[in-house]
Amino acid sequence: MMIDPTARCPKWLIGHMIERGGSISFYEYMDLVLNDPGNGFYSTGRLKIGKDGDFCTSPSLSNDFARLLAVQVAEWFLNLEKGRIDTDLFSLVEIGPGEGSLSRDLIDAIYEIAPALISKIELVLVELNVGMRERQEKVVENIKGVNCRWSNLDELSLKPVTGVIIANEVLDAFPVERLVFRDKKVFRQGVSLRKIDDKYFLSFVDLKITTAISQFLNDSKSLLKVEFPPKDICNEWVTEWHCDVPIWFRKLSKVLINGSLLVVDYALESKRYYNAMRKSGTLISYKNQEANTNLLKDAGFCDLTAHLCIESTVYYAITNGWKFMGEARQGQALLALGLSKFLYSLQNMNNNDLSTVLDRRESLLRLVDPMGLGEFRWLAFQKGNSKDLILRNRFLEEPIS
Ligand SMILES: C[S@@+](CC[C@H](N)C(=O)[O-])C[C@H]1O[C@@H](n2cnc3c(N)ncnc32)[C@H](O)[C@@H]1O
Repeated sequence: MMIDPTARCPKWLIGHMIERGGSISFYEYMDLVLNDPGNGFYSTGRLKIGKDGDFCTSPSLSNDFARLLAVQVAEWFLNLEKGRIDTDLFSLVEIGPGEGSLSRDLIDAIYEIAPALISKIELVLVELNVGMRERQEKVVENIKGVNCRWSNLDELSLKPVTGVIIANEVLDAFPVERLVFRDKKVFRQGVSLRKIDDKYFLSFVDLKITTAISQFLNDSKSLLKVEFPPKDICNEWVTEWHCDVPIWFRKLSKVLINGSLLVVDYALESKRYYNAMRKSGTLISYKNQEANTNLLKDAGFCDLTAHLCIESTVYYAITNGWKFMGEARQGQALLALGLSKFLYSLQNMNNNDLSTVLDRRESLLRLVDPMGLGEFRWLAFQKGNSKDLILRNRFLEEPIS
């Protein structure tokens, strides 16, 4: 078998793989290289988000993303206030806050839009990785007027909250199962250790599918409106299954009593996802702003990310007690929340600061670029036990011109 010389196995992973008999599933590999407490890209805090980091997310471009999203978030809080809900405290929960800037900028923007709300809001950050949490602590420590705490879903489910939950570009970092269709058979992709001249390398290996994968494939027709294997696939067709997403929705449904959840992520309709043309799935690695399809290169020093499938995400939410309120592409959602007003306002800015004006304009355009962040999907869900609660989804309305 050919070995890829760039797929060196890092020292810390060698022992782990030997302990596991030389092979682990791709799911375990992705989880380890991102989240292993001592060595993962996220957990060590090695990864940096932003223009000078490994990759950009919408909030990392400028605070305009948060200011626009705040129009929707403030609306939902105001709706909750009107909805005769029995609570004095609303929670803004951010899952996977990365650098922490979205939470900080959202609170600042809510303060501008609806200052009276601020005294009724607490900020709750749910972060899996210590290295990222340490950076978030420094960013949110200066937020004034709002109590901020970190928690996890198990802890929150013991004392559920009412409010708004945001998950921006988090589900795409959840480890996925990789499935390989070859010679009319299906395999669970694994990663195996190879030793050549005292050096250790990683390579892909076929493993037996699990009962859960087999169930996913059997359910695919009702779940995705797609049958496996899709028509006309090539002899080595690879795809993914976001097996942790149903578990996440189940846990999250116990966290929220009344309110909304907004998931923003790379996502595709099942027909575009599970398609003969997409023969290697959607997984990609990022480092220093460069995308790479070699998923075994620089293990623990790259981000790995996989798109969501819209139909299965919505299905997993609904079957776990969430009501689906609707979805839109980010470009459309931000225009509906007033992005064009932000662009026009740049004309009145002081031209002495031309480079600031141009930077801001570029960031705004990147947020709606249909070839980039504008193609992200906003998926909104609701939970509630109050019949008086009506949540207005401004992001689904006609754009403000
Ligand atoms: C791609 S970053 C997105 C950061 C931020 N939301 C943004 O848009 O800039 C993913 C973040 O989610 C965190 N994360 C990954 N899996 C998680 C999980 N299961 N629960 C909570 N946080 C998680 C990572 O540590 C990281 O902070």
